[in-house]
Amino acid sequence: MMIAPSILNANNLNLKKDIDEAVAAGISRFHIDIMDGHFVPNLSFGPQLVSDFKREFPSIKSEIHFMSDHPDDLVPAFVKAGADSVELHYEAMSEAKLNYWLDYLADHHVAGALVLNPDTPVKVIKPFLGKIKQVLVMTVHPGFGGQKFIAESANRIKEIREIAGSELPIEVDGGINDQTIKLAKDAGANVFVVGSYLYEAADFASQMQKLERIMAS
Ligand code: DX5
Ligand code: ZN
Repeated sequence: MMIAPSILNANNLNLKKDIDEAVAAGISRFHIDIMDGHFVPNLSFGPQLVSDFKREFPSIKSEIHFMSDHPDDLVPAFVKAGADSVELHYEAMSEAKLNYWLDYLADHHVAGALVLNPDTPVKVIKPFLGKIKQVLVMTVHPGFGGQKFIAESANRIKEIREIAGSELPIEVDGGINDQTIKLAKDAGANVFVVGSYLYEAADFASQMQKLERIMAS
């Protein structure tokens, strides 16, 4: 089980300090939210952030949550920038395109994952199970940090765990805090994206420890 902090709600003018703090607290993977202003109504980071991140923190993994319906130029750009994994939304492209880009990622030794929005039927993951290294279950509608965990998500996680078997990592993203992490974990999730709960806390490390205690319980 692990926590992947989302830097979306970190201070953009202080990112190095905010990432250092997380690494000092034991984080080994970051969740980087890429928003294109089209697939979701917000804009965030581009490939340069990822290449800067990999230069400064070569041993820390970068997980790209790709919230865009323009994979053709952007997926290769993030791969070139050094992404360790790229998570593609089911809703953002055709199944043929998803297959194409998941194969592309595998050919480039980048872990591919499939992301499902809260309204997308969970059974759509079935044809992709042989190709993906992780499923990302959105527990809010994507676009912004600081939203409330959608309660129905726990059932969706359970269903996905049943479909996917025990080995595939299930990650959750949106509204994870000291209450909802337990709901997600009990439903079968094992990777937890945490944004505002960590980055709006006075003390990142002690907030992390709180979550780690719940994960271990
Ligand atoms: C939402 C993003 C999330 C978000 C998580 O679209 O995908 O990764 O930053 O932030 P919190 O934990 O504040 O919901
Ligand atoms: Zn995300």
